[in-house]
Amino acid sequence: MHKLILAAASVAALAVAGPASAQAPIVLKFSHVVAPDTPKGKASEKFKELGEKYTNGKVKIDVYHNSSLYKDKEELEALQLGAVQMLAPSNSKFGPMGVKEFEVFDLPYILPNKAALRKVTGGPLGKRLLGLLDSKGMIGLAYWDNGFKQMSANKPLHLPADYKGMKFRIQSSKVLEAQFRLLGAIPQSMAFSEVYQALQTGVVDGQENTWSNIYTQKMFEVQKYIMETNHGYIGYVVVVNKKFWEDLPADIRGQLEKAMQEATAYGNDIAEKENIEAMEAIKKSGRSTIVVATEAENAAMRKAMEPIYDDMAKRVGKATIDEFVKEAAGATN
Ligand code: LMR
Repeated sequence: MHKLILAAASVAALAVAGPASAQAPIVLKFSHVVAPDTPKGKASEKFKELGEKYTNGKVKIDVYHNSSLYKDKEELEALQLGAVQMLAPSNSKFGPMGVKEFEVFDLPYILPNKAALRKVTGGPLGKRLLGLLDSKGMIGLAYWDNGFKQMSANKPLHLPADYKGMKFRIQSSKVLEAQFRLLGAIPQSMAFSEVYQALQTGVVDGQENTWSNIYTQKMFEVQKYIMETNHGYIGYVVVVNKKFWEDLPADIRGQLEKAMQEATAYGNDIAEKENIEAMEAIKKSGRSTIVVATEAENAAMRKAMEPIYDDMAKRVGKATIDEFVKEAAGATN
């Protein structure tokens, strides 16, 4: 009799555990602000595919592209509250959360090339920066790549003087604000999802972004000129809600970590190609003229922005800037 009850109990337990775990997978919401057809959009889809596969469907990953769930600032708040579990904001967006050091990536011309980027993100500084997120209720899992930024406007911009008095949309970074002030322009922080309309209606005159973002948000349709300046960089930190991550069963967390590693390698591998293709598509469209800066123009822009390294040392940390420059040095493409 005793044995029978035990057997029935275990059948009942199995019945509860079985269908419950089969019917109710852990849901991981991944929100981001760019289009699906971008390095970040594609890497997030790859993470979904691999994460669901490696966990055998025990985790369901819902990806929300194009700010369809939250805009820039909201998504970080939602992550901290646990309303969404994963994001990949650009390095420029952590300042308002109190993690200003990531703005070191915004310093103009700090990255001589892509190899330097990998050295920094894969080295001690990259690790230290990710560690800073812990106290904000999130864990930094990976660095995802986008690419170098170009300037856009309705007139060609060759020299610093051309920027004077123009309004530029910026991401929420004090370093980017300082960059445009040094050019005599007026920076305006704005959510990514609002940029197209702000350009179209003339709320701002121009903006800076990667080819991929300029193309997929159709900014090139409302900007007559794109200056190929490569003056700065946009990349991302994949962050996950700390409590959600730490509460996951260890085997599932391991499977998701593996999926993240592979999605990261995939995304970082395609990023450059995606940007080149976006640039070519813009060129082909004929909607926007691409202005290639001369060496002398580049030098003039660089010189105008140089004081930013001293001006922003206090915000970003002089030691952080020095460490970045040291780790980036010597890398060749
Ligand atoms: C921007 O706001 O311009 C970018 O950070 C958007 C993005 O996520 O690439």
